[in-house]
Parts: sequence; structure tokens; C-alpha cells
Amino acid sequence: MQRLLENKVAMVTGGGSGIGEATAMTFHRDGAKVAIIDRDLAAAERVRDAVVADGGDAIALKANVASDGDVGAAIAAIVEHYGALHAVSNNAAFGGGFKPVTDWSEKEWELINDVTLKGVWLCLKYQLPAIEASGGGAIVNISSVGGVRGEAKMSPYSAAKGGVIALTKTVAAEYAQRGIRANCVAPGGIRTPAIQAYFDALPEEREATIATHAMRRLGEPEEIADAVSYLLSDRASFITGHVLNVDGGMLVNPHNL
Ligand SMILES: NC(=O)c1ccc[n+]([C@@H]2O[C@H](COP(=O)([O-])OP(=O)(O)OC[C@H]3O[C@@H](n4cnc5c(N)ncnc54)[C@H](O)[C@@H]3O)[C@@H](O)[C@H]2O)c1
Repeated sequence: MQRLLENKVAMVTGGGSGIGEATAMTFHRDGAKVAIIDRDLAAAERVRDAVVADGGDAIALKANVASDGDVGAAIAAIVEHYGALHAVSNNAAFGGGFKPVTDWSEKEWELINDVTLKGVWLCLKYQLPAIEASGGGAIVNISSVGGVRGEAKMSPYSAAKGGVIALTKTVAAEYAQRGIRANCVAPGGIRTPAIQAYFDALPEEREATIATHAMRRLGEPEEIADAVSYLLSDRASFITGHVLNVDGGMLVNPHNL
């Protein structure tokens, strides 16, 4: 049986940790050649080495997704190395901390939005022509339940993640007849270093956060990666402009049962 991403060239940003790391490994196990982008090159190289040790084909590239020059150079390097680009997960983001809406500085707002929203747009700017030149493909941008329903104490991040959804739907509309699908995955709480940092800053939030999921547990990074891989595959060939909540029932759990 053909694997989900057989013969595809796939890239993931923020591939050096958490959901991005699991996505890189899932892309490989689903048959893709994998480009792992991260601003932390050592982390990207560690994930590349894990893919190669598992018999896969991967490259690691350093890029800050908030930098036009970095993103353009990284995507040119992928196309140069593999000769094509078919499938991408724009996953890198920066949460920036936890404060009431009135307490953020303009600088903090800009920094968070530069990575979390502008960074996705910069990736799309270079990915879309590369995917089109490769004969078509698909994009999954990682939003968040916070981008769907808002997130107390994370206004710049949740606003940026809502922007990622609108940007994805716009790309879906513009490219529907040009061979490129674009969808979002909106994770609930996922067991990664990022959520661990949240629990370290606000320890009382751990049990409360778990309780907001109808399943009463956090998700595993691989559970996000599986959804991303499916949406990027031809098995999702009629799906575009969709937001797939992968959240253990967070959005259907307004009451504590
Ligand atoms: N973990 C969760 O509970 C959760 C929930 C909802 C959404 N998400 C989203 O999932 C995605 C991955 O989150 P995670 O929990 O795996 O995070 P993580 O912190 O474990 O990993 C993020 C990776 O992105 C890289 N990165 C950060 N800024 C970058 C930049 N400017 N350029 C390039 N690389 C950069 C980091 O070096 C790191 O390797 C993010 O978009 C996040 O907002 C996570």
C-alpha cells in the first residue's frame, strides 16, 4: 500500500522540537524526504540525524521565519537540494508569555506577531511558487484553539493565531484552481517543551488546563503530526480552507462534567 506522502518533498518549520519534531519523523515514516527548518540549527540537526538513523532522507536548515532573507534562502536551498517542494507545515511560533491585554508593550506585540503571523506569510510567499513549480501540493499552517476561541493572558499570540486561520483561508481561495490546498490544524494542549514552559510559569494552570479537555488529558505531538500528514496527503484531496481542531474535545467542553 502506498504511504501517505510517498515520493513527496516535505518541509516543517520549528522542526527542532515538540510538534515540529514529531511532524518531521511522521513525514519520514509516511514516505517523504524531509527538510527541517529551525532557528536553532543544533535542534534541527538532531532531528535530521534521527530521521537518517531511521533510514530516511532529511536535511536541516537554520532560518528565523520572521526574516524574509532567511526564509527565501532556506526554501531556495530545499528546491536546490531535492529539486521540488510538495508539502509544508508552517509550525514555528512564539507565544511570548502570559499577561492581561493591557500589559503588553508595542515591542512585545510586534515580536510575537513577527514570528507567529508574519512568519507564516513569509513562508507562504516563497513556498507557493515553489510548490506550483513542482506540479502542486498542499500546506498546513499550525494555528491553535487560542486562535479559534481566544486565550486569556495570550492576546498577541491568540490574535496572531486567528490571523493564521484567515491567511490560510485566503490562500485556499487564491490557489484552489492552481493545484495547491491550504488548511489549518488547531491543536489543544499538547505535551511539548512549550506547554511545559507554560506550566513552569503558572503551575496552578496544569490541572486546570487538562480539565478543559473533554478527554481529560493533553495530546501527544504525534497526534498533531498524524493530522498534518493526512491533510497534506492526496487522501484529503477535496479539503481546502478547513480548520481541523485536534484538541481532545477542548472546544466541546464548556462545563466541567
Ligand atoms: N504545545 C501546545 O500545547 C500547542 C497548542 C496550540 C498550538 N501549538 C502550536 O504548535 C506549534 C509548535 O508548538 P510546540 O509546542 O511544538 O513548540 P516548541 O517550543 O516545542 O517548538 C517550537 C520550535 O520552533 C522553533 N522556533 C521558534 N521560533 C522560531 C523562529 N522565529 N524561526 C524558526 N524556528 C523557530 C523553536 O526553536 C522550536 O524548535 C506552534 O505553532 C504552537 O503555537 C502548540
